[in-house]
Amino acid sequence: MSSSIRIAASLLSADLSHLSRQVAAVEAGGADWMHIDVMDGRFVPPITFGRNMVAAVRQLTQLPLDVHLMVVEPERFVQSFADAGATLFTFHPEATIHAQRLLTSIRSAGMRAGIALNPGTPLEFAEELIDDIDLLLVMSVNPGFGGQDYLPSATDKLRRARQMLSARGSQAFLSVDGGISRQTIAAAHRAGADTFAAGSAIFGAADPQAEIGELRRCCCENV
Ligand code: DX5
Ligand code: ZN
Repeated sequence: MSSSIRIAASLLSADLSHLSRQVAAVEAGGADWMHIDVMDGRFVPPITFGRNMVAAVRQLTQLPLDVHLMVVEPERFVQSFADAGATLFTFHPEATIHAQRLLTSIRSAGMRAGIALNPGTPLEFAEELIDDIDLLLVMSVNPGFGGQDYLPSATDKLRRARQMLSARGSQAFLSVDGGISRQTIAAAHRAGADTFAAGSAIFGAADPQAEIGELRRCCCENV
């Protein structure tokens, strides 16, 4: 099963004073994607990274860049993130009026399109959009901060999301983000997640490089 799962290392918890070393370490450890959290101080309280961060990480690795936008009006940023080298552009549907049009424009700009659902956002928000998405991200914390506890309700939502994707014949990635650790990854995997964004579990570990393998092992040992 290990080849069918992806670990996306979330740079929100990285030591930015050693960004190139941190990226190199997780890449050497087998991270599949780099997850970059863009926050605007409006959709969520903090302000974090912008397109310059994506462009910088693009210089450091060839891995896919999984850009998660927690911003209002994400449609304003499609071209700049495409130009910066983003591979996936994931937004929250509450933050925009015309989600379907935005998904189309993300793909037209050469990126893969994703939508992210807050814990309080029903899965139905995704239902009409399934044919236009490459990734469905189920938030297992309320977005905005790293290091929060995994919300157990995410597991059942993942299960329902997997059923919905299967029923519709969708090949979209089913991703989970928030509180993913050795303790929680197996439940999310069993529920149907195939992609795992993890920040503090990786960058807070004594050995971030090795922790990627530990997460993969915990995921697969408990199938
Ligand atoms: C939270 C972000 C996450 C964050 C996860 O709003 O979207 O990607 O980095 O951090 P951990 O893995 O520490 O919960
Ligand atoms: Zn994220």
